[in-house]
Amino acid sequence: MIKRFQAWLQQKEQSSKPQELTRDNVPEHVAIIMDGNGRWAKHRGLPRVAGHHNGMKAVKRVTIAANDMGIKVLTMYVFSTENWKRPKDEVDFLMKLPQEFLAIELDELIEKNVQVRMMGYREDLPEHTLRALEEAERKTKHNTGLILNFALNYGSQREIVESVRHIAREVEAGRLNVDDIEEATIHSHLLSNGLPDPDLLIRTSGELRLSNFMLWQLAYSELWFTDIYWPDFNEQHLREAVIEYQRRSRRYGGLQ
Ligand code: IPE
Ligand code: IPE
Ligand code: MG
Repeated sequence: MIKRFQAWLQQKEQSSKPQELTRDNVPEHVAIIMDGNGRWAKHRGLPRVAGHHNGMKAVKRVTIAANDMGIKVLTMYVFSTENWKRPKDEVDFLMKLPQEFLAIELDELIEKNVQVRMMGYREDLPEHTLRALEEAERKTKHNTGLILNFALNYGSQREIVESVRHIAREVEAGRLNVDDIEEATIHSHLLSNGLPDPDLLIRTSGELRLSNFMLWQLAYSELWFTDIYWPDFNEQHLREAVIEYQRRSRRYGGLQ
């Protein structure tokens, strides 16, 4: 009897879950907190930077898969405004990765019509890092496919502070009335201005926090966490996350 009930339950669960991705409800914007590079390396007895190096391959895999899936914007959290606290050697290594990644991948990204963008505080970055990113932005700015948005030296609290300062200056200069400040006013002053808010946030490595990532923009995003370390993340994991997203019911505070 119990066995029959279990079989029935299993069948019911299976039939209510779409096992396949449906093309008409693909998240427009997927944001990823790529975490666990250091632990991935440690488990293999390797230096932390080996994890970052392998993480780059996952960036490539996931970009191609996202593009094939019809995702429009893929934001990747590469380096936070707090990551400067790490040892200098590690920070230096991380700051070299964008140019290394782009030297290998930019041609293929161009061929695939990907538009590269950078979202973060540019003024603190080493010149070589910024140069590589800005060159990629320039070369891909007319591309109309996937937007690959690197959050580099990005911090959401700083983003909100800067936004408030900007708005306050406009009020001070008499260009804006205090009563006209709305959600959209703040939104349009964020670094993500022009991009839709993420529909789906993925964080790897088992940590269940946002670590100062897109705090405003994630207000109604669907969250998906996995224990997989970022360098092991692949197309199949992305599909799993998107299929799970397609099963969710987004209510935005209303009823459905
Ligand atoms: C994510 O991996 C990459 C960056 C934050 C730059 P970590 O370097 O945070 O790896 P863990 O969390 O220490 O394993
Ligand atoms: C968040 O990961 C930043 C990036 C993935 C770039 P961290 O590893 O820096 O976050 P915490 O310190 O565990 O919160
Ligand atoms: Mg980490």
